[in-house]
Amino acid sequence: MSTVEDLTSLFSGIGLEEPKVKEILKNKKVSQSLESLIKDAPSDASWDKSSRALVHNLASSLKGVELPNQKLIVRGILNGDLKTSLQVEAAMKYIKKVGENATIEEMNKESGVGIEVTEAQVTNSVLKYLEDHKEKILAERYKLVPGIFAEIKNMAELKWADPRLFKPTIDREILKLLGPKDERDIVKKVTKKKDSKTNEKNSSSAAPKRTMFTEGFLGDLHKVGENPQAYPELMEGHLKATSGRVHTRFPPEPNGYLHIGHSKAIMVNFGYARHHNGVCYLRFDDTNPEAEAPEYFESIERVVGWLGFKPWKITYSSDYFHQLYDLAEILIKNGKAYVCHCTAEEIKRGRGIKEDGTPGGERRACVHRDSSVELTLSKFRDMKNGAFKPGEAILRMKQDLNSSSPQMWDLIAYRVLNAAHPRTGSEWKIYPTYDFTHCLVDSIENITHSLCTSEFYLSRESYEWLCDQVHVFRPAQREYGRLNITGTVLSKRKIARLVNESYVRGWDDPRLFTLEAIRRRGVPPGAILSFINTLGVTTSTTNIQVVRFESAIRKYLEDTTARLMFILDPIEVIVDNLPDSYEEMVTIPYRPGTPEFGDRTVPFTKVFYIERSDFSENSDDKEFFRLTPSQSVGLIKVPYTIAFKSMEKDKAGNILRIHVEYENEPVDGKPKKPKTYIQWVPVSTKYNSPLRVAETRIYNQLFNSENPNGDPADLNPDSEVIYNNAVIEHNLGHVIKNSPWVINSAKESEFYVEEQHGSKEVCRFQAMRVGYFTLDKDSKGDRIVLNRIVSLKDGSK
Ligand SMILES: *[C@@H]1O[C@H](CO)[C@@H](O)[C@H](O)[C@H]1NC(C)=O
Ligand SMILES: *[C@@H]1O[C@H](CO)[C@@H](O)[C@H](O)[C@H]1NC(C)=O
Ligand SMILES: *[C@@H]1O[C@H](CO)[C@@H](O)[C@H](O)[C@H]1NC(C)=O
Ligand SMILES: *[C@@H]1O[C@H](CO)[C@@H](O)[C@H](O)[C@H]1NC(C)=O
Ligand SMILES: *[C@@H]1O[C@H](CO)[C@@H](O)[C@H](O)[C@H]1NC(C)=O
Ligand SMILES: *[C@@H]1O[C@H](CO)[C@@H](O)[C@H](O)[C@H]1NC(C)=O
Repeated sequence: MSTVEDLTSLFSGIGLEEPKVKEILKNKKVSQSLESLIKDAPSDASWDKSSRALVHNLASSLKGVELPNQKLIVRGILNGDLKTSLQVEAAMKYIKKVGENATIEEMNKESGVGIEVTEAQVTNSVLKYLEDHKEKILAERYKLVPGIFAEIKNMAELKWADPRLFKPTIDREILKLLGPKDERDIVKKVTKKKDSKTNEKNSSSAAPKRTMFTEGFLGDLHKVGENPQAYPELMEGHLKATSGRVHTRFPPEPNGYLHIGHSKAIMVNFGYARHHNGVCYLRFDDTNPEAEAPEYFESIERVVGWLGFKPWKITYSSDYFHQLYDLAEILIKNGKAYVCHCTAEEIKRGRGIKEDGTPGGERRACVHRDSSVELTLSKFRDMKNGAFKPGEAILRMKQDLNSSSPQMWDLIAYRVLNAAHPRTGSEWKIYPTYDFTHCLVDSIENITHSLCTSEFYLSRESYEWLCDQVHVFRPAQREYGRLNITGTVLSKRKIARLVNESYVRGWDDPRLFTLEAIRRRGVPPGAILSFINTLGVTTSTTNIQVVRFESAIRKYLEDTTARLMFILDPIEVIVDNLPDSYEEMVTIPYRPGTPEFGDRTVPFTKVFYIERSDFSENSDDKEFFRLTPSQSVGLIKVPYTIAFKSMEKDKAGNILRIHVEYENEPVDGKPKKPKTYIQWVPVSTKYNSPLRVAETRIYNQLFNSENPNGDPADLNPDSEVIYNNAVIEHNLGHVIKNSPWVINSAKESEFYVEEQHGSKEVCRFQAMRVGYFTLDKDSKGDRIVLNRIVSLKDGSK
């Protein structure tokens, strides 16, 4: 351990000023890295301002981690090969990747050593870029500049150019092209929100964005290699095997469908690894063969992919049954396990559970605990060979009955099961428990961060105990608070009953909160990730009402979907004063305020549909602004208003159709100004309009009560309301063809998830005034079935 004096003299020795040295010394890890980097430098090196800064930066990003071959970087900096922080970063990335196999030649190649980009070349590239994009730049002017800057910086030919060359060149050339800024370039502060968004964008290029991965529980996690070991000598092999990269795992039991709560576990494990350029396993914890079924494996894999994550490897706890068995024998040979023949009841008693089921009684070792190693070993082999029936013998760990933690009261390691395994068939008669398997497989897979939810907090002790007893690398288990969605039912058993008794359409019924259901309903995966990110990760449980989740989805869709005119409950309208062939093309933006979505056209014709609730027979209602016998109304984007003439009703008194007049005779040269504009969907064979929607499924909450317990008597009879007559403008076809329809600004988010073209659930749109919809998987050919994802407004009390 170097003293502060040693370090001060070492750091001053390379020419760092005293205040700088003091600042560096405040951070132990950075000091430690800087120390080792300086010691890697040739003793006769001459340090200058730039090399000091580069090495200090390097130390700051290493933060205590020592890379094999890091001296190649230090030497590259000092001999002038690595000149910029960009190059040092590339060199570091390379060294991290290949570790001990690094060569100077490769490193220099990876970091662009020797590639000189002159100012003239930069200017040339900038000019070419501006020429290629001239039209757009002239149209949109200065607000494009940050984007131009980013794109030019990313040009392959400029990769190794000095970044300081870009800005003056771009500024100069833009000024030549556009002239000085004028009133067209004033950024309108439309809303405060928008303003803060632009700022965010600017700062994102400078400093890393703050996300759930950079702060809170995940931000505070240890660096790879910093977790303590009972046997520190095991760390070296671990670091070699992982190349110092984060390794996590998502380890579901394949015995059910995942639900919304699991999306957090998926995002924490896969996302943390991705954020740190690490890897994440999808590991099926298949040690309970009786509960497993192939559809669960498939569903889990599908859902992980849907949320935008790709497992580094897909593994199964059963892949390791042989290794686990060998470790169990080692545990026995170390005198730390015994075969126990107690009944479940006797085991409970021994753990201090009293006859009445309450804990706190006296704890007693069972009579088998002191069996010899030889006897235990031979009985364990008998267990393996099928000499015992289920319940007759178990292998227990010899832990510490005096511990205050129940996780140390001689947990069960292996039990006899009479069940074939989906993957290993009838090979095994004994199966390891979760407590035995989990930590050891983490160790075998060299997991650097074993992230689980806080109900496993007490397991951390047994986790470490077992790794240490069999002398294997001890991964770090760390516990975060799970996501608890309230106001619905997530329990497997309760949902199974609803499915089995046909109260819902299946495990993926859009009213449920399994991930399959949420997907079918049309919720974008990116919306889920963004939502979880905003909640952040702490060690305590996050309780969220279903309605709050839905309002986050609504917000996300509001910003990211195109709009269409859609009439849920139509009445036909005939314009008496227009000819049958009348056709007036009306242009409507797909999303006002977002030019990127573009416009669409809708033919205004003699016959069209309006929403039944947009007409009232009562002319006296002063609060009703839409069509009445005495009040004209506007149709969205149609130039003139329509005025009521007459209506037709059926025998029961229902309105069949309304006759109106198009008020296209301006009064004083001006069209009439209506109180409001309503939606309309035209009838036009030429445009194949309207599209008729066979079923529009409007979902409401599944249960009546706020905190349902899953009782079918509590089901909301209106949880699914189906409309069979809805009509929609023909541009739905365009939306479907372009789906998933994603605008560029949405792709910029760290939490954007690319979805599959051709899936039904990605065909989302906003039906003006009614809600957000997507195609249900029951749609086939011309038969359109729509799911309402969420309503436009929060309908909860
Ligand atoms: C180094 O090279 C050897 C042989 O090619 C390879 O097995 C090993 O995985 C490499 N090490 C790293 C850290 O890439
Ligand atoms: C963000 O970018 C805009 C547009 O270029 C610029 O006007 C503004 O000053 C920048 N804001 C910050 C905080 O950098
Ligand atoms: C884990 O690391 C050890 C070295 O400690 C190595 O032998 C083993 O192959 C690694 N396991 C995996 C799955 O990479
Ligand atoms: C618990 O501790 C007591 C006294 O320290 C010891 O005599 C006893 O054997 C321990 N019991 C077990 C089951 O380890
Ligand atoms: C999770 O939510 C349920 C209500 O649905 C509540 O009863 C329970 O206490 C919550 N769990 C935690 C750990 O907060
Ligand atoms: C569904 O209910 C039937 C009859 O009650 C029962 O036999 C069956 O096991 C149940 N299935 C499931 C998956 O719960």
